[in-house]
Amino acid sequence: MSESWNKRTQAVHGGIRRSQYNEVSEAIFLTQGFVYENAEQAEARFIETGPDEFIYARYGNPTVSMFEQRIAALEGGEDAFAAASGMAAVNGALTSILKAGDHVVSAKALFGSCLYILENILTRYGVEVTFVDGTDMDAWKAAIRPDTKAVFFESMSNPTLEVIDIEAVAELAHSVGALVVVDNVFSTPVFSRAIEQGADVVVYSATKHIDGQGRALGGVVIGTKDFIRGTLEPYMKHTGGALSPFNAWIMLKGLETMALRVNAQAETAQTVAEALEGHAALERTLYPGLKTHAQNALVQTQLGGKGGTVLSLDIKGGKDAAFAFLNALTIPVISNNLGDAKSIATHPATTTHQRLSDEQKDELGITPGLIRLSIGLEDAGDLLADISRALDVSQQ
Ligand SMILES: Cc1ncc(COP(=O)(O)O)c(C=O)c1O
Repeated sequence: MSESWNKRTQAVHGGIRRSQYNEVSEAIFLTQGFVYENAEQAEARFIETGPDEFIYARYGNPTVSMFEQRIAALEGGEDAFAAASGMAAVNGALTSILKAGDHVVSAKALFGSCLYILENILTRYGVEVTFVDGTDMDAWKAAIRPDTKAVFFESMSNPTLEVIDIEAVAELAHSVGALVVVDNVFSTPVFSRAIEQGADVVVYSATKHIDGQGRALGGVVIGTKDFIRGTLEPYMKHTGGALSPFNAWIMLKGLETMALRVNAQAETAQTVAEALEGHAALERTLYPGLKTHAQNALVQTQLGGKGGTVLSLDIKGGKDAAFAFLNALTIPVISNNLGDAKSIATHPATTTHQRLSDEQKDELGITPGLIRLSIGLEDAGDLLADISRALDVSQQ
């Protein structure tokens, strides 16, 4: 194992542990527990586990550990803890850090369940949360206080694709000793350099690009060894958000092909966004890779110019036109995941973000005509033809 390997090599070989059979493909250790050779060994293991010692799958498992080590290496973090879903990972990262009386500053453009944790759960336990426009550095500056313990944001927001300046927010947060917790789903582990740019804790829903083939739920939190083992692990192992070893194996195999998939998907997303920009049926084409995107300069520096695999189309004619568009599509499926090999179209206002009030939707730009389009691995020409035809139908 070499720390000097590039991402592509880490994604294939990082974290590998072979059994006595020296298998090529990673083994699935589908076991809840582990047998001790004697009572003394059991006692010793409960005092301290070594790197290749396990107790119970809620605490850790060899297949899960391979996934954790591989994604940590890929992300440039010291360690990682895998979780049953992206939301178990977001919840674990925030809840393990915070206690009653603490203050958090969060971007307000968030996936509905992330918003629920901050707005409805943390506040119920006495954590004070201030929401800001994540793209407004003056707003972050005004909101971060000496007693702020953490800041939270999606580095690229769901579904309006605002891009947040990790370095600038981290500088402000670190000046008061606050931890920077980044939900990095839309930036993907392929384009992200979040830790290098100042994030202390990076969270992924592995359900998205890491699996990338719509099979399993999973999540992961990456950070320093101290944070992962000292703060997060005790919380996760006692509250039960563990990733199944079978799902960890799916994620491990997903990581091997992730760069190929995500680069191809981002290239098609760029082509589709450029072709659709200015289309007569559209109020707005939102894609961070477009020169006209408000944070495109930041995309160049923070994400190497890559706009990701998702674009959002604001269709003229509101909900009726958006539904007509969805129902006319023949290649993208109507569903609510993203980062999948299959293109997926979502109407956030009535599904993923339905719970938000009309004022919140207005404020976040989640209009009745907005469609989130996750671009898959299909042929770009076929996709563009299908989307263009469905846009024509939406205006009839
Ligand atoms: C930005 C973001 N964070 C977290 C999640 C939650 O992930 P999961 O569905 O794996 O719990 C999602 C999507 O569902 C998401 O889009």
